[in-house]
Amino acid sequence: MRTTLTTLREMYGKGERIAVLTCYDASFAGVLEEAGVDMLLVGDSLGMVLQGHDTTLPVTLEQMVYHTACVARGSQRAVIVADMPFGTSQVSPEQTFEHAARLMAAGAQLVKLEGGAVMAQTISFLAQRGIPVFAHIGLTPQSVHQMGGYRVQGKGKTAAEQVLQDALAVERAGASMLLLEGLPAALAEKITGSVSIPTIGIGAGPGCSGQVLVVYDMLGIYPGKKPRFVKDFMQGAGSIAEAVAGYVREVKAGTFPDAAHSF
Ligand code: KIV
Repeated sequence: MRTTLTTLREMYGKGERIAVLTCYDASFAGVLEEAGVDMLLVGDSLGMVLQGHDTTLPVTLEQMVYHTACVARGSQRAVIVADMPFGTSQVSPEQTFEHAARLMAAGAQLVKLEGGAVMAQTISFLAQRGIPVFAHIGLTPQSVHQMGGYRVQGKGKTAAEQVLQDALAVERAGASMLLLEGLPAALAEKITGSVSIPTIGIGAGPGCSGQVLVVYDMLGIYPGKKPRFVKDFMQGAGSIAEAVAGYVREVKAGTFPDAAHSF
């Protein structure tokens, strides 16, 4: 039976941490959910890890629809969330709904979009029309040029307050879940304690309701230097399934990320 947003809310209510990984194809979908991953994120990170771009900006809606459908065909159990690629949610709420509807029709149960308070009107438009939203705040990769690189956000009192206000604004607007990327661990923990929806962290420390990593990263496939927040779960594992099961175990136990993998 497929896990639903309701199941994730129940897990959150019971304090069970939610294990999420990115996924872009049918074969991985089967392996990841068999190993215990609760939610599969069809991330626009595919622009970097599959397509070889430096950023997620060139990814198109057609490509996201294609990969969402591939993941949906290979998956029986996990919740599927699809990313809204650059330029598809930064338009009117009506146009955003049309784009999101294509991802839902391809098999997503909710859509992820980047941005805080500025996206509140759009989030509320989608949520009121049956599309649950996973709001992505903090380090938002589609704004890489605005941020001047992939930098930890929310450092310092004013910046931290801004991220907290973003979290509260998207929750008020009706977001179902919150993705916290690239934030000081203490700030992510404070945000998690200030909202009543699950927070999923990446590079945001252990105090979130769950964790996500790019699947290629946690399998040790990254070009150049390993980012601080990534752990290579292939080390010591005999197979991909074993590495993923190790990740799920550590997320559920709250032992990943530790201080060495946090900011
Ligand atoms: O696109 C993606 O994979 C993401 C993760 C970095 C969370 O948004």
